[in-house]
Amino acid sequence: LQILVLHGPNLNLLGQREPDVYGSLTLTEINKRIEDQARTLQVKVSCFQSNHEGALVDAIQEAWGQVQGLLINPAAYTHTSVAIRDAIAAVKLPTVEVHLSNIHQREAFRHHSYIAPVAVGQISGFGYYSYILGLQALVQHLRETAS
Ligand code: DQA
Repeated sequence: LQILVLHGPNLNLLGQREPDVYGSLTLTEINKRIEDQARTLQVKVSCFQSNHEGALVDAIQEAWGQVQGLLINPAAYTHTSVAIRDAIAAVKLPTVEVHLSNIHQREAFRHHSYIAPVAVGQISGFGYYSYILGLQALVQHLRETAS
């Protein structure tokens, strides 16, 4: 199994950015942990971060036929992007949405996700471990639905 991991805007600043909310690990360190977990689960991952909505849409379109699942932290685009939602709906890749912080515990504008209705599920609030749980859940889902 091949899985694409997408990180949305400002996640390149992890480590320095509001560490009380998002933790102290850098994106490179988080990607390393995701890759370690992928090895344990015997799947392949590629990780991509962009601050640009269109670049994330392009990456989702290009993943079509190349990967079997999508793990995405859409960051602020969670709450604004019909385009990312439509791209996921178009490629029909099983998608798990993750957030470092618990978006439902924060400001009201973070409570709504455009992505959740097209995702298999959402994991929110466990810091970097949301990605680990998300990858486990996605792989389990793909293996259960395979054949
Ligand atoms: C986030 C939550 C979003 O509301 C915020 O805009 C982010 C990060 C998270 O991982 O907790 O940039 O997706």
